[in-house]
This record gives sequence, structure tokens and C-alpha cells, in this order.
Amino acid sequence: MRLLVLNGPNLNMLGIREPDIYGADTYEGLLNLIKDHCAEIGVDVECKQSNHEGDLVDYIQQAYFDKVDGIVINPGAYTHTSIAILDALKAVKIPVVEVHISHVDEREEFRQVSYVSLVACKKIIGRGINGYIDAIDHLVNCVLK
Ligand code: DQA
Repeated sequence: MRLLVLNGPNLNMLGIREPDIYGADTYEGLLNLIKDHCAEIGVDVECKQSNHEGDLVDYIQQAYFDKVDGIVINPGAYTHTSIAILDALKAVKIPVVEVHISHVDEREEFRQVSYVSLVACKKIIGRGINGYIDAIDHLVNCVLK
């Protein structure tokens, strides 16, 4: 089983960026957490991050050609604005779980809009970086089984 974990803008700044909201763990720490967990459960995972909307669209399209089975995505601020990311996810028809480190539903009103939610089979919010592990486990145990 092959999974893609995709992070959008500013998620490479984890640990530096608003730690009161996003926690003290770094992006590298997140990558290690994901890689260790996937090694344990025998899943092939690739993690990608970009600050650019078009790159995220390219990575989603590439997942189709790479025959990726599932996508975990935290599109960062593009969650609330990007029809292009939504359309790319619709195009590839790969099961998607949406993750947000913070509790977006309890923050500013503009963070409560999510285009990706229209296609995601599950949304995990407010669980910190453990949300990515929950998302992987959901794909592996519930969606792709
Ligand atoms: C985020 C929430 C978004 O509103 C914000 O723009 C981010 C991170 C989260 O993980 O909580 O960049 O997706």
C-alpha cells in the first residue's frame, strides 16, 4: 500500500510558527513520526510539502500516475481558498483524509470553510501532529482494507 502525505504552505515552519496554536514539534519531527509509524505498519509513504498551490496540484496529479492508494492532506491556508486543489483531488479519485493540526472549527470564521472537505472521506482536526497518524490509520484500516 502506498500513501502520500501532503502538507501545504507554512507547515514546514512547524515548531517555529505560532507554537501556542500548532505545537512545539518541528516539521522534521512530524516526518519522523509518520515514517516510523508507516514502517511499523508496513506502509510505503512519501511526504511532500510546498508553499505553492500549483506544486500541490502537481503532486496530487503525480500521485495518480504513481498509483498511490491514499492521500493524507493538510492544505494549510489553501484549505479555505483552493478550488484547484479540490479539482485535482476530484480528478485523481484517490481516497483522501483531511488533517488540521489546530481546531479550525473553533478559530476565525474564514477557517471554517474547507473546499477539500467536499471530497475528503474524513476530516481530523485539533489532534496536533497525531492527527496525521489517525488519518493514516483510518485510510489503512477503514478505507483501503
Ligand atoms: C491548518 C489550519 C489553517 O487554517 C492554517 O492556515 C494552516 C494550518 C492546521 O493544520 O491547523 O496553515 O491547516
